[in-house]
Amino acid sequence: MNDMSIGFLDSGIGGSTVLSRALRLMKNEDYFFFSDSKNCPYGDKSDEEIIKRCDEIVEYMTEKKHCKAVVLACNTASAKAVDFLRNKYNTLPIIAIEPAYKMVHDNSPEGFTLVMATRGTIESEKFHRLYSKYDNGNTELLSCVGMADLIEQSRFDELDNYLQKLLGKYRGMAENVVLGCTHYPLAKDNIRKVLGNVKFFDGAPGVARQLYRVLKKNDLLSSKKSEGKICFFDSSDTQDEREEKEKRFFEILSSYNCE
Ligand code: DGL
Repeated sequence: MNDMSIGFLDSGIGGSTVLSRALRLMKNEDYFFFSDSKNCPYGDKSDEEIIKRCDEIVEYMTEKKHCKAVVLACNTASAKAVDFLRNKYNTLPIIAIEPAYKMVHDNSPEGFTLVMATRGTIESEKFHRLYSKYDNGNTELLSCVGMADLIEQSRFDELDNYLQKLLGKYRGMAENVVLGCTHYPLAKDNIRKVLGNVKFFDGAPGVARQLYRVLKKNDLLSSKKSEGKICFFDSSDTQDEREEKEKRFFEILSSYNCE
C-alpha cells in the first residue's frame, strides 16, 4: 500500500506547480499526474460536467492506477467536486487546493488584495464561504476567463496583453495577489510586469504539507530510500499533442521555482 502512487489531477499542466511543492517534501514517493487538457479549461464548465469528469478520473486513478491518495491540483475541480468525491470515495484520502486567501489574512491583512481565479472558482459556494470568513474589506475578486488557456497553450505574448487589460488599473495599488488557479504561478513574471513588486499567495505549499500530514496519519508514507517515479498522462486526442504536453510538464518540473 505505501508503495502505491499519489494521483494528481488538473485540467492541464498547471497542477505541476503543486506537484513541484510535493516533490520538495516527498521525493521518494511515486506520482501519477493526470492532465485533462482535452477538457481544458474547467473554469467555464458547469458543476455537473466537472463532477462527472473528476469522478471518471478518480475512478481511473484508484481502479487502474491503484493510487493511495489523490490531490485535486486544480482549484476549480476542488471548488466544485471535492464534496462529491469525498463522499463517494470515502476511504481514499483526497487533498484539495483552494485559493490562499487565508494566507493573506494571516500574513498581510491590511493590503489591497486581488484574488485571481477562474470564473468557476470565484462563483463557487466553497470559495464564497472562505471569502466571507477572511474578507479584509480591501479585496477585489477577478474572474480571469481564458487566462488558464493562454498559459496551457504557452501563448505568453497574448497573455501579456490580456494581463495589461485586466490588471493595468491596479498598478501601484495592489499589494497582495492570490494565485487562485494552479496555472497562474507560471505567469508570476508576466503579472509582475504589469503590477510591479506584489506579494504572491499560492495554495500549493499548504497542499503539500497537508498531503504529507494525511499520508503520515494514515501510515501511507513510502518507506523507500530512493527517488520515486513520476508518471504523466495527458488526455489530448493526438500523440503529438500528448508528447508536447509531457515534454512541457517535465520541463516545468525541472525549471519551475516554487518559492
Ligand atoms: N488549473 C485549474 C485551477 O486551478 C483550472 C484552470 C481551468 O481549466 O480553467 O482552477
